[in-house]
Amino acid sequence: MFLYASIFLSLLVALLAFYYTQTHSAMPSLAAIRQSNAAFFRSKPSVAADAPTAIFVGGTSGIGEGMALTYAKYTEGKSNIIIRIFASMPAPPGDGTSKLAREFVQCDATLMKNVHSATQTILSKYPQINYLVMSPGLVTLSGRDETHEGIDRKLAVHYYARWKFLHDLLPSLKAAEGKGEKAAVVSVMAAGHGGKIDLDDLGLKKGYSVSASMMTGPTYNDMMMESFAEQAPNITFIHTYPGFVRTPIGASSPSRALRIISHVFFPLVWPISVSNIECGEYTWSSVTTTATKPGAWRIGSRGEDLGKKNYFGGEVQRKKVWEHTVEVIRAALASPAPERPKAEVQK
Ligand SMILES: NC(=O)c1ccc[n+]([C@@H]2O[C@H](COP(=O)([O-])OP(=O)(O)OC[C@H]3O[C@@H](n4cnc5c(N)ncnc54)[C@H](OP(=O)(O)O)[C@@H]3O)[C@@H](O)[C@H]2O)c1
Repeated sequence: MFLYASIFLSLLVALLAFYYTQTHSAMPSLAAIRQSNAAFFRSKPSVAADAPTAIFVGGTSGIGEGMALTYAKYTEGKSNIIIRIFASMPAPPGDGTSKLAREFVQCDATLMKNVHSATQTILSKYPQINYLVMSPGLVTLSGRDETHEGIDRKLAVHYYARWKFLHDLLPSLKAAEGKGEKAAVVSVMAAGHGGKIDLDDLGLKKGYSVSASMMTGPTYNDMMMESFAEQAPNITFIHTYPGFVRTPIGASSPSRALRIISHVFFPLVWPISVSNIECGEYTWSSVTTTATKPGAWRIGSRGEDLGKKNYFGGEVQRKKVWEHTVEVIRAALASPAPERPKAEVQK
């Protein structure tokens, strides 16, 4: 028993040391990152003249929350912040005196119809958007779990909902860019940690597994950013891998096994993990510093450019994934709403 524990600990230490040297060598310090973020947000031409508007899809927790708080700090509150949230959070009371928005929009993003109505609400109020940050997510060990719209829930929040948000809000991002303001999109997923995709099984209807889903989401995110970058060449589209971030994602998993594992795993990786605020700084640095020109970028856990590292895309894949996504979302929006239980209808 002692022998096994020693081997396990030695392997873990070696793994952590390897990971640390891989991610920290030649990387700017957090203090330097903070300085460059602050300088970017101080320089007026880089943000909107008045109040830049940012949308945080999944901003109620973890990395999205860290991004929102970091952003609020650098813009000194002079910003419209809209946080897209899951059904669990009540809308904040407002005294109606502030001209700046702190708006919470309710939505379960597993359903494309919900995303559609949320984007229409946002578009009607915010014709100009500077930043769209998307980090809704969950971890689960369950198999394919379809909504009544025919999309697996995990792939829905990791990819299809993000695509739909970006697609619908693109006119507002283009409007900001058209006025000479900064416009950028960040999708926090797992750049550089995806895998080959099966073009005969897009959406994983036939070959769904936990690992297939984990490999597919990041590669679809790569394709998504590249396709939208083609349509809006003056906007920056960033897909990031955040590294190990101390968030409730494991502890709030629908899978009991993952909830238990996360209690053991997170303390073990604590030395190489970062807080959600630190991750917010690193991730913003991709916008403020790394992505020096518009287009599609893949960014690592310390805000560094990954280039084409572990890239599984290509022109054929991009075109097929785009056509597949358009069709899946069209079908989702056209699908009938599920029948309500009789008791509810009678009320
Ligand atoms: N944390 C890490 O170490 C790590 C590492 C690699 C990749 N990632 C990826 O980074 C992303 C963010 O992870 P995180 O650690 O920040 O997770 P988190 O703390 O659990 O936050 C997830 C966010 O997604 C929202 N969300 C979940 N289901 C939703 C739904 N159906 N509709 C709308 N919003 C929904 C949550 O809203 P509620 O709060 O309302 O539930 C929350 O705001 C995920 O895609 C994850 O896979 C994380």
